[in-house]
Amino acid sequence: MIEKNWLPCPYTKTPAAGTVHWKAPSNIALVKYWGKNAYQIPANPSISFTLDNCNTITSVDFRKKEHTAPEFDFDFLFEGRPKTTFKPKIQTFFERIVPYMPFLREYHLSIATENSFPHSSGIASSASGMAALALCLVDIEQQMIPEMNPNFFIQKASFLARLGSGSACRSIQGNIVQWGMHDNIPGSSNLYGIPYPQDIHPVFQQYQDTILLVHKEPKHVSSTLGHKLMHGHPFAESRFIQAHDHLNQLQSIFATGDLEAFITIVEREALTLHALMMTSLPYFILMQPPTVEIIQKIWNYRKTSQNPVCFTLDAGANVHLLYPNTVKDEVLQFIQDELIVHCENEHYICDHIGTGAKKINHK
Ligand code: DP6
Repeated sequence: MIEKNWLPCPYTKTPAAGTVHWKAPSNIALVKYWGKNAYQIPANPSISFTLDNCNTITSVDFRKKEHTAPEFDFDFLFEGRPKTTFKPKIQTFFERIVPYMPFLREYHLSIATENSFPHSSGIASSASGMAALALCLVDIEQQMIPEMNPNFFIQKASFLARLGSGSACRSIQGNIVQWGMHDNIPGSSNLYGIPYPQDIHPVFQQYQDTILLVHKEPKHVSSTLGHKLMHGHPFAESRFIQAHDHLNQLQSIFATGDLEAFITIVEREALTLHALMMTSLPYFILMQPPTVEIIQKIWNYRKTSQNPVCFTLDAGANVHLLYPNTVKDEVLQFIQDELIVHCENEHYICDHIGTGAKKINHK
């Protein structure tokens, strides 16, 4: 299926060569994307906090080839070294996006990418990585269509990033991004993420996310496979309705800053995600024993301190601890005193809600 809106206007310039650099953040979903249809269309809408410190910086050198060839011509460096295992993922990405980016066959591309978070931290880099690459490619295309509208630029980057990895379409802009059609969210689309357009209470403006690195090995079931297992899942339909309902409830929560209700939705979403994994066929568990120990301690701490701290989980064992900036010092003390013993090599990463991807002029 070709989405005509994203086909480029005819290229009016043909740059011989150049380089672009973009930095794109990771994101953490509050309402989770889990289940998709063809062409990376999500089975339900999702919403995330854009992060800041966890990000990917990607540079693309482009050079016009003498002749257009059917195959893509690119090389790929990850943290300074050739990484052939990533090439098939990029190859698939290029195959999906070439109708929208015909220049891909006309240029040789040298892609170099690095993550701010430590290698093998168990943090998925596909969201920030695909977002940074999509931005670099739209930036190159803009040099061929200088009159490209800035809104179109951002939306096209999100549209393309989605075709690389669904959650990547939420890593272009800040601070809270919604992806997927929802009746009560004007402008929402299955094709790209949008900055959350409704009222947001100031308590959410500097929200903190401390990522407790419980297990740094790559997970044994990929998200892509997990999404597939939602086809024919016995709870799929009720889950998709629940996600719409959670987004409805978040509307007043975001407006009023009702943290108690926020916590209920966020934790229920995390546990629903993992419950769906545990009830798939084949079923699987991505949590590790420390994941559960940390959750128990967070619940105890919240009860005794009355601090509005909650957790969410990605498709993995690491725990994201979410809390407002106002209780940061106390929560960091709690992490030191009680949680780091459960982290692999006591590692954790302090992050917070961020403003989205940035172009970098010189690396
Ligand atoms: C659990 O975006 O990694 O993090 O589209 O197959 O690349 P693909 O999947 P991906 O799935 C993310 C799943 C999640 C929830 C979320 O981020 O919404």
